[in-house]
Amino acid sequence: MLVRFNLNGEEIESEVRDDERALDFLRRIGMKSVKEGCGEGECGACTIIVNGRNVVSCLMLAPELDGTEVWTTEGLSFKNELDPIQKAFVDEGAIQCGFCTPGMVMSAKALLMKNPQPTVEEIKKGMEGNLCRCTGYFKIIEAVKKAADEN
Ligand code: FES
Ligand code: FES
Repeated sequence: MLVRFNLNGEEIESEVRDDERALDFLRRIGMKSVKEGCGEGECGACTIIVNGRNVVSCLMLAPELDGTEVWTTEGLSFKNELDPIQKAFVDEGAIQCGFCTPGMVMSAKALLMKNPQPTVEEIKKGMEGNLCRCTGYFKIIEAVKKAADEN
């Protein structure tokens, strides 16, 4: 079927299969920041923002993108300037292998869009669907807090 939606500020029109996952479709059109970890909705590596909410794209079908507004990490940096959340992740050392990072950044973005000044508890809750095997989470929480403070 044909889907039309807004991706990172641009109108997109594309053929998708009825059974194609949003994760596979987005990667197919070049959004390689969208990672597959578990493929079962448990790790958050594939997180994107759909209509202002963080969504795991491995559990979403590509036809469901029709009519939505979608953001991936590719849409965050403007003219090679990092988004404040990306910058805070770098500054706080919240990235090690980096596999979880795009999903973490998108969940943080969705959280700060809803709640620009979250408490540490609210950050933990907002990021609870995103797993990281490397950092121990402390630096990730610090990075989100720093991005919020600098907002
Ligand atoms: S790959 Fe989608 S939640 Fe793990
Ligand atoms: S930085 Fe390696 S999984 Fe998070």
